[in-house]
Amino acid sequence: TERTYIMIKPDGVQRGLIGKIITRFEERGYKLIALKLVQSTEPHLEKHYADLKGKPFFPGLIKYMASGPVVAMVWQGLDAVKTGRVMLGATNPLASPVGSIRGDYALAVGRNICHGSDSVENAEKEIALWFPEGVVQWASVAEAWIFE
Ligand code: GTP
Ligand code: MG
Repeated sequence: TERTYIMIKPDGVQRGLIGKIITRFEERGYKLIALKLVQSTEPHLEKHYADLKGKPFFPGLIKYMASGPVVAMVWQGLDAVKTGRVMLGATNPLASPVGSIRGDYALAVGRNICHGSDSVENAEKEIALWFPEGVVQWASVAEAWIFE
C-alpha cells in the first residue's frame, strides 16, 4: 500500500504538538513505519525543498526548518499521500478547515507546523532522503479491522 512522508516542523515540536499529530494518523488507521527526532541542517533541507529554490520565502523557510528539531515519520495505508494532505490542511492555515491539523493549530503560512508529501513520487524521494537506513516492515493486527 501507499506511504507518505510526514514531518512535524520545529514550531510543532516547540509547541508540544508531537503527540496530538501522531495520534491523528494512528487513530485514522495509518501504520507508522519510521519515526525519528532529528536536528536537520540547511544543506539537507535545501534538498528536501529543492522545488522551491528561487521563491522569495525560500531562505526564511530553510532557516525556520533548521531552527530546531523536527519529527520525521513515514505513515503507510490506503491513499496515504492525498489523505495525509487533507489531514494536514491547506498550505495557508487560514484556508485550512477546522478539523485539519493546520486548521486547528496554526495561523501563519510560514509557521504551519507540519509537512506532508504532495505526490507518491515525491513521497518516495522524501522517504529515501530522510530515511536512507530504511523503514520498518511490521504486521499490524488492527489492519484486519480497518480494511475489509
Ligand atoms: P509542505 O508540506 O511544507 O511542503 O507545504 P505545502 O506542500 O503545503 O506547501 P509548499 O510545498 O508549496 O511550501 C512549503 C512550505 O513553504 C510551506 O509549508 C510553508 O511553510 C512555506 N511557504 C509556502 N508558501 C509560502 C509563502 O508564501 N510565505 C512563507 N513565508 N512561507 C511559505
Ligand atoms: Mg510541499
